[in-house]
Amino acid sequence: MNYGKNDVAVIGMAVMGQNLALNIESKGFKVSVYNRSNEKTQKFVEERGKNKNIEGSYSIQDLVNSLKKPRKIILMVKAGKPVDDVINELLPYLEKGDIIIDGGNSYYKDTDRRFEELSKKGIRFLGTGISGGEYGALHGPSIMPGGDKSAYDEVKDILEAIAAKTEDGPCVTYLGPKSSGHYVKMVHNGIEYAIMELISEAYDIMRKVFKLTPQEMSRIFKEWNEEHKSYLMEITYKILEWKDEETGKPIIDVILDSAKQKGTGKWSVQDALDLNISIPTINAAVNARTLSSIKDERVKISEVYEAPIEIELNKEFVDALKDALYISTIIAYAEGMKLLQVASDEYGYNLDLSEVARIWEDGCIIRSAFLKPIQKAYKKDLALINLIISDEFITEFRNRVPKLREVVSNIKKTKIPIPAFSSALDYFDGLSSKELPANLIQAQRDYFGAHTYERRDKEGIFHTEWQDIHNI
Ligand code: 6PG
Repeated sequence: MNYGKNDVAVIGMAVMGQNLALNIESKGFKVSVYNRSNEKTQKFVEERGKNKNIEGSYSIQDLVNSLKKPRKIILMVKAGKPVDDVINELLPYLEKGDIIIDGGNSYYKDTDRRFEELSKKGIRFLGTGISGGEYGALHGPSIMPGGDKSAYDEVKDILEAIAAKTEDGPCVTYLGPKSSGHYVKMVHNGIEYAIMELISEAYDIMRKVFKLTPQEMSRIFKEWNEEHKSYLMEITYKILEWKDEETGKPIIDVILDSAKQKGTGKWSVQDALDLNISIPTINAAVNARTLSSIKDERVKISEVYEAPIEIELNKEFVDALKDALYISTIIAYAEGMKLLQVASDEYGYNLDLSEVARIWEDGCIIRSAFLKPIQKAYKKDLALINLIISDEFITEFRNRVPKLREVVSNIKKTKIPIPAFSSALDYFDGLSSKELPANLIQAQRDYFGAHTYERRDKEGIFHTEWQDIHNI
C-alpha cells in the first residue's frame, strides 16, 4: 500500500463514481477508490482501472491513509442516509483541514446541516452538484461546488481539469457558501424536468395530431436542434430513431408512458413556494411525471372519457410548434434563474448568475444555445428582474409568444394535455399583465376572514365590515 501518495479518493463505485475516478486519473492525478462492497472495488481496479494510477482500498481506514494531506475525498453515493453513513465512517480517521466533497444530488438542507456539523470538527465540506450523467462524468461534466472556499481552492486544479471546457473556460466555478452548489444543481434539475416535459409535449402533439412516425419526428427535432443546440433535444431525436432489438419496433413505442423521479424537481417547486416564487412550468413538469406514474388509474378513467383527437391543422402548425417550444424553453430557464436569484439573497449564497449560466454551457444535461445569451444578460445586470425582459430575449418573446398562444389555443380544443406549454404561456401572460384579478381575491379574503386589503388610491391596510353590508 502506497501510504499517503494519492491525490484524491472517490467513494462509491457505481458507474458515475467509476467514470469520475477514470476522468480524474486521465488528467494525471493518482486516485484511491473505495466501495462498501469490496468485490465492486476489486472488479473496477482489475478491469476498467487496470494499468492506471488507480488504487483500490478495502477499508475506510486504508483509503484515508492512502491520501496526501489534506485529504480530498469525493463521495459518489446515493443521496440521503448513505451520505451521512459514509461521513460518519470517515470521521474517526480524518484530521482537521481534510476535505469532503459530496458529488451526489443531495437535498440542500442536508448539505447545510452537514456543512455545519463538519465545520465544527474542522473538516472542510463542499456540496457539489455534478451534471452530465455517466458520459459527462467520464468525459467532462459541469461541476457546481459550494461550501468552504479554502477547500475549493485546494481542489480547484482537479475540478478544472476534469470539467467540460468551453471558450469561456472550464464548466466549474466556486458558486458560494453553504449549500449553494447543491441548490444550483437542484434548480438545474428543475429546469431539466421542464425542458424534458416541453419536448415530450411537442412529441405528443406531433404523434397524436399529425400521426407522424418516430422517424419523421426525429427528423423534425434534429432540424429544430440546429437552433436549440440542446443536449436534451439531441438525445430526443436519437431516441426517436432507435429500434428495439427484440421487436424491431421504434423503441419509443415499446417504452411505458410512466415516468419516475428522484426528488430534485419536486424540491425546486417546494422551495420556490416557500420563497414565494412562481415557477409554473417546472411545477407542471413535476406534476406531469406524477400523473404519468398512475398508469392503471389513467387507463380506467380513459375508458370513460376516451375521445378521438379530431382537429384540422395544416403543416404550418408544426412551424408554430417549433416557435412555441423555443420560447417555452427560454421560459423554463427564466423561472429557474429567478428562483436562483431570490434564493441567493434569501440564503446568502451571493450567486453570480452569469457564472451559473457559463458553467451550464457544456457538460450538463440542460446545455444549449440559450445559455450564452443568458450569461450575457446577467453579466450586464445581475439584478435583472426577469430574463423575459432582457435585451437578449425581448425580440424572441415578441415574435414567438404569439406562436405559443396559437399552439396552446388549438391544442386545448383537443384532449391532449399540454401542462408545460400552457403554464409557460400563463407565466408569460401573468408576468406581463399590469392588471390581474387579485383585487377580488383581496376582497374575498377580507370578506370571509377580515384579512384586510390594500388600496390603489392610498397607502395603508384597510378592512370593510362586509357582513354588515351583506345583512342590510
Ligand atoms: C444530471 C442529472 C442527474 C440525474 C437526475 C435524474 O444533471 O446529470 O440531473 O443528476 O439523472 O437526478 O433525476 P430524476 O431521477 O429525478 O429524473
